[in-house]
Amino acid sequence: MQKYQDRNRLAELFQKEVAVYTAKHPASEIAHEGAQESLLNGVPMLWMAKWPGPFPIYVDSAKGARFQDLDGNEFTDFCLGDTGAMSGHAPDATVRAVQEQIAKGATFMLPTKDASINGEILSERFGVPKWQFTLSATDANRHLIRFARQVTGRQKIAVHDYCYHGSVDETFAVLDEQGNTVSRPNNIGKPTALSNTTISLPFNDLDAAERAFASGEVALLLIEPGLTNIGIVLPEPGYLEGLQELCRKYEVIFALDETHTLSAGIGGITKRDNLAPDAVVLGKTIGGGVPVGALGFSSELASRIASNLELESIDVGGVGGTLAGNALSMAAVRATLQEVLTEENFVKMEELAVLWQQNTQRIIDEHKLDWQVSRIGCRGEYSFRATAPLTGAEAHEAEDFELGQFLQLHAINSGILMTPFHNMILISPATTEEDVEKHRVHFQSAVEALFG
Ligand SMILES: Cc1ncc(COP(=O)(O)O)c(C=O)c1O
Repeated sequence: MQKYQDRNRLAELFQKEVAVYTAKHPASEIAHEGAQESLLNGVPMLWMAKWPGPFPIYVDSAKGARFQDLDGNEFTDFCLGDTGAMSGHAPDATVRAVQEQIAKGATFMLPTKDASINGEILSERFGVPKWQFTLSATDANRHLIRFARQVTGRQKIAVHDYCYHGSVDETFAVLDEQGNTVSRPNNIGKPTALSNTTISLPFNDLDAAERAFASGEVALLLIEPGLTNIGIVLPEPGYLEGLQELCRKYEVIFALDETHTLSAGIGGITKRDNLAPDAVVLGKTIGGGVPVGALGFSSELASRIASNLELESIDVGGVGGTLAGNALSMAAVRATLQEVLTEENFVKMEELAVLWQQNTQRIIDEHKLDWQVSRIGCRGEYSFRATAPLTGAEAHEAEDFELGQFLQLHAINSGILMTPFHNMILISPATTEEDVEKHRVHFQSAVEALFG
């Protein structure tokens, strides 16, 4: 694998894009200057500082697959809030349900009927029958880890090398060169050495999983069924089924975090590959943009958990949150699942993602680049290596921060927002062929600037 060689040219091209960007976004620049005083790094959440260019775009409004910024520029949004808006922005059904519910009260610490309807819909889609709701996928993962430790009496969890499951302490682990589990670099204020809590596993390596489980220390295997957060890494045939079997053999709880891989279809990779996990985690898009997470359990795991709960201290046991399962987010989930994230829409979304993949791969082939395109349903990504990565470490090695920043800023100046992590796109039910064509034109022009 060879990195892009002409770094001077890359720096020059990037500076040209910065000049175009700055000229096109005076209102965003002023808004960002004004925010320096009251916000850390000038943004409400640190990651928002990572966009390419000297300041982020400030959004004015969004609908479907498009948004407008403060300067009146219109964008096709392939980032879609890094999955939070994979349903499209402000879907009509969700907006109606949210407006109705907020007028009737948003949060009570009491259930509303929507919650059980959501449980039923998710049970049918993912095959696990009992559900809980949180405010984020991060929270769902945290709760799952606690439940798993409690019911197994074991201390460690196993995750994939270079995984991401939200800001969950136990998951910020990678393998060092000797194969030891260590903290990921820049893990802010970690509470303890990661080797105390976690065993990190290379993706697509069943032997490593078996060695870890045989130690008897592992309560839970928490994985994305295809990595999406170090770029896309796809499971080899038999890998997920093999993990499932090993989990049964060593009595390790088998959990699929489908927060991102829901892009594979209505029941994520769980349904697509006919898997039978003990637990499923969801979040982001299921609320149509309203904050929510979900955690589903098999009957067996649900009864093990229930038999461990003491009613008297159920509110201080480390699982839950005052606003979790609130009426507003439950109304949003019901409308989004029933009317937006439908089977029919998933089929349409995937068709457009296939078109995007073909367009992108064709340009790569025409220029004989050592790059490739991967896809999980309506999520696609190109990476700077000739073959699809088999592990998180391989995907990590292919990263090129400056090259990625140039391509992202070039996209922005062409009226397209990609995810700020890797070169990833998401297709929503509102995305059109015209949007996909806009990406083709941008990608062709960016590749010609780099290699022409
Ligand atoms: C697989 C996966 N799980 C969980 C999360 C956490 O989601 P949130 O930040 O919305 O809690 C993410 C976020 O990117 C994710 O990719």
